[in-house]
Amino acid sequence: MEYVTLANGVRMPQLGYGVYQVTREECERCVADALSVGYRHIDTAQSYFNEEEVGKAVKNSGISRAELFITTKVWIEHYGYEECRKSVLESLRKLQLDYLDLVLLHQPFADYYGAWRALEELYAEGKLRAIGVSNFYPDRLVDICSFSRIKPMVNQVETHPHDQQKTAHEWMNKYSVVHEAWAPFGEGRGGLFTESVLAKIGAKYGKTVAQVILRWHLQRGIVAIPKSTHIERTDLVVDGADDHRHISQSF
Ligand SMILES: NC(=O)c1ccc[n+]([C@@H]2O[C@H](COP(=O)([O-])OP(=O)(O)OC[C@H]3O[C@@H](n4cnc5c(N)ncnc54)[C@H](OP(=O)(O)O)[C@@H]3O)[C@@H](O)[C@H]2O)c1
Repeated sequence: MEYVTLANGVRMPQLGYGVYQVTREECERCVADALSVGYRHIDTAQSYFNEEEVGKAVKNSGISRAELFITTKVWIEHYGYEECRKSVLESLRKLQLDYLDLVLLHQPFADYYGAWRALEELYAEGKLRAIGVSNFYPDRLVDICSFSRIKPMVNQVETHPHDQQKTAHEWMNKYSVVHEAWAPFGEGRGGLFTESVLAKIGAKYGKTVAQVILRWHLQRGIVAIPKSTHIERTDLVVDGADDHRHISQSF
């Protein structure tokens, strides 16, 4: 597994498994499958309504907590200091965890400064190992970096070969914020999986287009959180060469 190091020294696995649009019925099985093929980083959100299922899969996996990296995101209706604090404690309860590795503010709307103060406080209390934001494009990102006690350590934005976020990436680097890609496969739309340039690279190196796309993210220093409800697809990015079945080292 490859890692990035956040501004506070916390190591974050560069590949994670995202559970957006994974139904409650499927989520526990999907997360269990992802963990079984080597993922150790799971990305959920309050607005995905599947934190409880993620929690069950994590608990039943028997994998030690220290090996795992679990992220959730605070939805805008829980913004403001008090609501945000309460909602993160509720997420911890649903996930059956004592601490979260990363909590993100999902969108830069409404009272996100109040919400950010709650995250800063929960971080200082040791309930969160890292805090960050999502969908904060350069103006909002520079604003929160400039006017907060603790700068976001991660910014999760849509990023894939058809939407590369080069300018946003530069601003994140400037403020030492790790770039995390949501929809690293472009949500499977726009013909990304049949893109001829990616197919040619794959043919040259004996890799699938999905593997080429993930390697492109990793080489940019970006954290990617692909989603698939099919174990044979999640397995595509895994090098099963050793007992721990480390993800992605083979490409
Ligand atoms: N912060 C935000 O606002 C935000 C927004 C969106 C997403 N996210 C996060 O980012 C994660 C990933 O984004 P996403 O789920 O929207 O999109 P994605 O990972 O870019 O793409 C998922 C789609 O690609 C398909 N797929 C996956 N692997 C494939 C393969 N090897 N070959 C062909 N098709 C494949 C999946 O189908 P199957 O499931 O049928 O395999 C699914 O339809 C989410 O789960 C969530 O955690 C965050």
